[in-house]
Amino acid sequence: MKKQNKEKTGLWLIGARGGVASTAILGLSALQAGKTDGTGLVTENYDFKDVSSVFPAWSEFFVGGCEIRTGSIYDTVATLGGIHPAIRSDLIQACKRDLAAIDSRLVPGTIRGSGKCIASLADMDLPTEDAPAETVARLESQMKAFVDQNGLSSLIVVNVSSTEPVNAAVQSILEKGGNDGKKLNSLWDKALNKKCSQSSESSLPASSLYGYAAMKNGWTFINFTPSTGVPIPLGDLWSEQYGSAYMGFDGKTGETLMKSVLAPMFRNRNFNVMSWVGHNIFGNLDAVVLDDPANKSAKVASKDRLLGEILGYRPQTLVTIERINSLGDWKTAWDHIHFQGFLGTPMALQFTWEGCDSILAAPLVLDLSRLALTARRRGQTGRLDFLSSFFKSPQGASTHDFARQYLALYDWVMGAENGK
Ligand SMILES: NC(=O)c1ccc[n+]([C@@H]2O[C@H](COP(=O)([O-])OP(=O)(O)OC[C@H]3O[C@@H](n4cnc5c(N)ncnc54)[C@H](O)[C@@H]3O)[C@@H](O)[C@H]2O)c1
Repeated sequence: MKKQNKEKTGLWLIGARGGVASTAILGLSALQAGKTDGTGLVTENYDFKDVSSVFPAWSEFFVGGCEIRTGSIYDTVATLGGIHPAIRSDLIQACKRDLAAIDSRLVPGTIRGSGKCIASLADMDLPTEDAPAETVARLESQMKAFVDQNGLSSLIVVNVSSTEPVNAAVQSILEKGGNDGKKLNSLWDKALNKKCSQSSESSLPASSLYGYAAMKNGWTFINFTPSTGVPIPLGDLWSEQYGSAYMGFDGKTGETLMKSVLAPMFRNRNFNVMSWVGHNIFGNLDAVVLDDPANKSAKVASKDRLLGEILGYRPQTLVTIERINSLGDWKTAWDHIHFQGFLGTPMALQFTWEGCDSILAAPLVLDLSRLALTARRRGQTGRLDFLSSFFKSPQGASTHDFARQYLALYDWVMGAENGK
């Protein structure tokens, strides 16, 4: 018999057994059971303390999702951090039953157009289809079944799967289609119906197919990765056609968060930043994927983009991301910023960031889901610009300055943009 969950919204995680997703799932379960507090969650910070009723309760979310790997959410969180476990084992044990229930709901995803490295991770029995349109139909039916069988009111779909290589098929649609909605639709349909193998580099990529499947049903698609997903103007077009919402790219959790806080300081004090070097080392599954040059280039571009935009000029920059297995989820970033002050005198700032990747990212996934649901309840569709502070490369962003982005979020939560 169908369960009645009309008060609940589905949270559909793509890459549900990965580090970020599994930590978000554990965190949500712990929040729902009152076993953890709101530390690390933006929507639980001091500014929003008196308006917390504008947000849905954590109990309103019901999790499902897809994967390409076997394994379990439990194993991911239990081994997070490798030799330095990242999460208390009593917390994991307390949520074990929830994690198993969610695991049993996970369905096979797609690796269409995701490149060789991601394909090599896939050990689940994944259906293959002749054309991307058929893959979209399957993804849609999986999500609809989850909504229907669990009596959910709607769905927030969050992509937390591995970073794909840059995709030429979507790029070509954007270049040829420009801002012409009719042309974009026809190019998209053509690519969607073009028969090609799962591994073909000319196929539309999985991230875009997940995004399209979500948006054409009026649901929200959040792209926490630098993968192609739903770019502008396709996202604007689909939002208009289907009444859905979207936002991306690439969660801003560590070194880039620091950049977006520090670079405005250099700009506002009128220092001349000559170079900014950032070396990143870590050793989790994400690092395995980013070790492949094709997958890495999407990430480096995302981490490098914002400096020039904040400063108004492009200093020499270097971003490296290297895989060091023993570190597991513990990521270290060393940044060296060489700048000139008054009378041309050179100076330097160096910082070391030591973060646990999934612990930084998971609460943002929960915040994004909560804020996306708040937007839905306010009747807001289209690009969710007010979420820019959560992303390294926020779509349609007018600023990369963290303080200004945060202010936009604050104003939106307080309803200031509606004059309320
Ligand atoms: N601090 C952070 O951890 C952080 C910050 C910003 C962005 N991200 C991005 O978030 C994503 C997830 O990071 P992670 O550390 O959890 O990585 P991960 O490798 O631990 O998890 C990714 C999961 O996605 C699954 N997957 C891969 N391709 C898939 C597909 N096509 N369909 C369904 N599932 C698929 C993998 O099997 C894996 O379980 C990455 O793209 C990463 O770059 C992470």
